[in-house]
Amino acid sequence: MPKTSVAATVAKVGERVTVKGWVQTRRDHGKIIFIDLRDSSGILQVVFEPSFAEAHTLAMELRSEFVIAITGTVKARPEKLINPNITTGTVEMAGEELVIINRAETPPFELDKDTSAVNEETRLKYRYLDLRSERMATNLKLRHRCMLYVRNFLTEQGFTEIQTPILSKSTPEGARDYLVPSRLHPGKFFALPQSPQQYKQLLMVAGFEKYFQIAPCFRDEDARADRSPGEFYQIDMEMSFMPQDEILQLVETMFTGLVKALFPKKTFTQEPWPRLTYAEAMEKYGSDKPDLRKDKNNSDELAFTWVVDFPLFTPQSENDKFHGVEATFAPSHHMFTAPKEADIPLLASEPLKVKSYQHDLALNGVEVGGGSIRIHDPKLQEKIFDLIGFTAEQKQQFSHLLEAFKYGVPPHGGIAPGFDRLMMMLTGEPGIKEIIAFPLTGDARDPLMDAPSVVAEKQLKDVHIKLREDDLKQK
Ligand code: AMO
Repeated sequence: MPKTSVAATVAKVGERVTVKGWVQTRRDHGKIIFIDLRDSSGILQVVFEPSFAEAHTLAMELRSEFVIAITGTVKARPEKLINPNITTGTVEMAGEELVIINRAETPPFELDKDTSAVNEETRLKYRYLDLRSERMATNLKLRHRCMLYVRNFLTEQGFTEIQTPILSKSTPEGARDYLVPSRLHPGKFFALPQSPQQYKQLLMVAGFEKYFQIAPCFRDEDARADRSPGEFYQIDMEMSFMPQDEILQLVETMFTGLVKALFPKKTFTQEPWPRLTYAEAMEKYGSDKPDLRKDKNNSDELAFTWVVDFPLFTPQSENDKFHGVEATFAPSHHMFTAPKEADIPLLASEPLKVKSYQHDLALNGVEVGGGSIRIHDPKLQEKIFDLIGFTAEQKQQFSHLLEAFKYGVPPHGGIAPGFDRLMMMLTGEPGIKEIIAFPLTGDARDPLMDAPSVVAEKQLKDVHIKLREDDLKQK
């Protein structure tokens, strides 16, 4: 018989169906055996009575996480036995035939409870079990629905989703790169993109006008509760001929709709979302990502806040380095962000006073997105490179962009909300790992796959790499 999903049994009272899945729990009540059967759609109570002797005898062997198939009749539960806490609470199934498809060892932690208190190493080593827990499965399904909402919304708004390369070149987001050695070009390396920043600007030169991508980004950064140490996803967007105000409005409409559709319990502190200048935010709240909730303990309250008019540059101390340059100042956002037109004359005299078209999105005190209107004048772009102290060689690294700008570049700008971070905030989870299927540990390891790992000498040779003795000794 074909598999009926557990959730679908609610509409099949009186019918004989086959369900398949995992044993969540087994309870013996005298001669009667109760099983909670779990599949990806929910949980169903199955009752094995001695009258179906063969199934009943086999049911005694069942343990948690056995994979089984049960055929039986779906029955309505008597009124007083209805369980409002589960979607199939109005029905149960009579276990008439039972097949044990696969037995399972006892899991290293309990899967029918919240797993957040379980040690991280164990949870990530057995992540496929952790993801069986209701909270984790719900989080990942919600993540999928949010992604779908965003894709549909942007597609309806005329955006094209385009995949940009993963094997690429160092990008200027300011974190450390993940490098990939090239076999065909000895001594040369790809860098995994910290964001698709340059590609999305080139797509504007290419004439797409509205681009988006649920983009994987790779940054070799130290982990924090809201920061992935290896990879994370952005809702990366770029638009041509769209002023800053319209970009902010579009993102606001998208996320307001998403929250109302998928998180109906949440409320907004303020609608439309407040827009603060950087100076106002710093003066009033001492932060460029202020938490404007009325009740700071209420995670169902969402205080989205735009912060604009950032300074174009941030002063650098002696030891700070931006792209290996000892500069007196570095770009506050990145070096493609446009200065406000009125402030352009100040670039020559007082660069630190120049304001930019950077826009950040804060949510309950966390930065959930950042972007800007970009420079689309090659001369101005070069001037910024000079101001941040780029050498001729460093400028050369971006010559493709300046070259592209010679061929008719539209005014453009964009933003990249951090998808994982946003999901963490919307689900009310305390850490970003709770909404990522297979995250790295805090010290950037994957205990499940055992990555990163040592590779064979032959592989290293293929990519022209020789390990340094002193580094190996430290291990
Ligand atoms: P930025 O570097 O500000 O901008 O990143 C945009 C957003 O990405 C999220 N984010 C992260 N999320 C999880 N883990 C991390 N390690 C991490 N780092 C960043 C944050 C942040 O607000 N190319 C530009 C965007 C643009 O200008 O359009 C960029 O990447 O939510």
